[in-house]
Amino acid sequence: MVEGLEQNDGMDRQRKISSYEQVSQAIEATLEGETDLLAAMTTVVCLLHYTFDTYFWTGFYRRMGPERLLIGPYQGTLGCLEITFGRGVCGACARSGQTVIVPDVHQFPSHIACDTASQSEIVVPVFDRAGRLIAVFDVDSDRYDAFDEIDRRYLEQIMALLSRFDMAPVYHLPPIISH
Ligand code: SME
Repeated sequence: MVEGLEQNDGMDRQRKISSYEQVSQAIEATLEGETDLLAAMTTVVCLLHYTFDTYFWTGFYRRMGPERLLIGPYQGTLGCLEITFGRGVCGACARSGQTVIVPDVHQFPSHIACDTASQSEIVVPVFDRAGRLIAVFDVDSDRYDAFDEIDRRYLEQIMALLSRFDMAPVYHLPPIISH
């Protein structure tokens, strides 16, 4: 690789880390004392979406049944409303309970193309304090290969902040399903 490119790459990584550090602090500060999950999710979406210009679509799919995800809140172009576990990148994340990074969505067999501008994607699971999956957090980029281990690390930390909210009374999750 050309030396200059390596340096640029390093600078990009540093910039990304520093942006995540700042936005994580902003999210924690804004959510302090908040008890409403929808307010918390909306805040997370807004702050992240406007921090990174690589974020083209940013939002949650909430678990509304044993294997059913429903959209919202989000920022970006129109997203499909419902996703079943196992379908698309979101469904794969929901089923496995693991973060999924897709460098090129066109290579992901069951990818759901809500917007043809989307080229790469990361989906992070969200759990409640009992370890039950309550939502997935989906970010699409209009650039290929936009997400890496830095995004995974920080987004998983940010999603862990949402575990303090008690979801069960809102979403009627069966108590036995856990990851
Ligand atoms: N691409 C996602 C669907 C949601 S939209 O990108 C907003 C997927 O394959 O799960």
